[in-house]
Amino acid sequence: MTDSAFSAVKVSEHVWWVGAIDWSLRDFHGYSTERGSTYNAYLVMGEYPVLIDTVKAGFRDEMLARVASVTDPNNVKVIVSQHAEMDHSGALPQVIDIIKPDKVYASQMGVQNLAAQLHHNHQITAVKDAETLKLGGLSFTFLETRMLHWPDSMVSYLAEDELLFSQDGFGMHLASGRRFADETDPADMSFEGRKYYANILLPYSSLILKLLERVGKLDISIKTIAPDHGPIWRKDLGTILGWYAKWAEQKPENRAIITFDTMWQSTALMARVIADAMSEAGTDVCLMPLHGSTRADVMTELLCAGALLVGSPTINNGMFPTVADVLTYARGLKPKNLIGAAFGSYGWSGEACFEVEEYLRQMNVELAAPALRLKFVPDEAALSQCREFGKVVASKLKERVGA
Ligand code: FEO
Repeated sequence: MTDSAFSAVKVSEHVWWVGAIDWSLRDFHGYSTERGSTYNAYLVMGEYPVLIDTVKAGFRDEMLARVASVTDPNNVKVIVSQHAEMDHSGALPQVIDIIKPDKVYASQMGVQNLAAQLHHNHQITAVKDAETLKLGGLSFTFLETRMLHWPDSMVSYLAEDELLFSQDGFGMHLASGRRFADETDPADMSFEGRKYYANILLPYSSLILKLLERVGKLDISIKTIAPDHGPIWRKDLGTILGWYAKWAEQKPENRAIITFDTMWQSTALMARVIADAMSEAGTDVCLMPLHGSTRADVMTELLCAGALLVGSPTINNGMFPTVADVLTYARGLKPKNLIGAAFGSYGWSGEACFEVEEYLRQMNVELAAPALRLKFVPDEAALSQCREFGKVVASKLKERVGA
C-alpha cells in the first residue's frame, strides 16, 4: 500500500472498498437522508485491477485516492458500471479519462443510459444477462436486474470470493466510519435498510421476490453482499435476505399510520383522538404530523403497516400542500394491501377529504370508512365521531390481518 489521503478497506481476499462517504447528504432526490450516505465502489485485485462502479462526480478524487492506497489507478484495466444513476456513474467519464482502462462494461441498457445521461465519447461494451467473463484471472458473472431499480441495473458475482456486488440492492443511506454490517448498530441497520427499501425499491417488490428466487436456484454460494450504499454484509446474510423477503411481500400488519397536517389544530385534534381510539382497540398506531415528518419518514413507517389514515384541512378549496406532497410521493411508490380513510376539519367548502379519498383509491387502498369531515373546531359530539371512526378502522384492520 502507498500513502494516500484516503484509505481503501479490505473486504475479502481480492476485494477492497474504495468508495466515498457523503457525511453531508441530507436529501437524495427528495428522500430525506439525515445520516448521509456512502457511494461504494470496489477494487478487485486479480492479475490486473478491476473497478466495480464509481461514485458521485464530486467524490471522484476521494475514490481515486482510496484506489491509490492499494495500487496506481492507472493499473486499473477494466471498469464495470452496474448502474447508470449518477450517484454511481457521475464520476465515470472523468475516471475513464484519467485511468484509460482497456475496457468498460455495462448491461445492454446501461450502455444506452450512460450515453443518454453522461453524453460521453467512451466505448462501453455490453454484457449479457448471466454472462461470465474472466477479468484479471477472476470469474465475474453478471445478472441483469432490470427495474431494480432502473432499466440498466445489474449485479455482479465474483466466484473466487463468493461475493455479490449487489448495486443498490441491500443498500441503505448511512454515512459511517464502519464499513461492515456486523460492526454497525443492528437498530440502525434495520431502520435505514427499511427506509431505503420503502423509498427506493418498494414499487419493484414483485421483481425482488423473483430475483431472490432466481438467485436461490443458482448453484452458487454467497458469503458477502457488497452493496453500493451503506455497510457490507459479510456475516448473517439471512438477516438482510429475510428482511427483503418480508418487505417485498408487504403482508399487512395490525399497525396504522395516521399522517396529517393542520391549520388551526382541529385536524390535529381529530388525528390524536382517532389514534387514541385505535390504540384502545389494539392497533399499533404511529401518528405522523407533516409539519415534522418527511415524505420519506411516512413511507418508512408505512412499509410494515396495514392502514393509512390521512388527515387534511381544506385550504383554498383543496387539500393542504404537504398532504398533496406525501400522497403524490406515496402513490408513486405503490404500497400494497392497505386499508385507509380520510379525515379533516373545514370551514365552508371542505373538498380536502374527497381529494384525499381520490388519491387513496388511485393507490388501491380499500376505504375502511367514509371520510370524516368536521366543520371548524370539533366539539364533544364531533370528538365522539372521531373515536367511532377510529374504532371502525381498527376493527376492519383487525379483520384484515386476522388479529
Ligand atoms: Fe444508488 Fe439507483 O442509485
